[in-house]
Amino acid sequence: MRGAVICGCIMLIVTLAPFQLSNAFGGKIDYKKIYKNECKKCHGFDGKGSKRGKKLGTPDFTDAAWQDSVTDKELLDSITNGKKKMPKQEGKLSADEIKAMVKYVRMFTPKKKRTY
Ligand code: HEC
Repeated sequence: MRGAVICGCIMLIVTLAPFQLSNAFGGKIDYKKIYKNECKKCHGFDGKGSKRGKKLGTPDFTDAAWQDSVTDKELLDSITNGKKKMPKQEGKLSADEIKAMVKYVRMFTPKKKRTY
């Protein structure tokens, strides 16, 4: 009798587990992973540009003046369709993923120092 209860519990856990996984991760975009796999080789881990990237002309994502000079729409367009040496990501990344990458690029903006 006890055995059957335990067995039932295990079966319940096994059948519920995949649902819980898809709830936790479904629809969530792992932009860190995308950046690491697709962008880091040129833009560098810190967003300043790798050796290879700098040769190709990558902007410094940590430069506040550069961040101010571009709109989200421009970034979205550049990532989607490419820009000069920047390879287009359309077809590689979904539209939602590209949107997430625009946000990620914005995260490199240095925190503005408070000036009293
Ligand atoms: C092969 C190297 C390379 C890879 C890989 C790469 N980029 Fe770039 N990226 C560049 C270069 C070079 C530029 C500068 C383009 C220019 O303005 O001449 C650039 C520019 C950009 C810009 C600025 C666009 C603008 O409008 O000024 C953004 C944003 C950007 N990349 C995001 C990404 C993201 C996100 C990824 C990964 C999904 C990525 N890049 C992958 C080389 C690369």
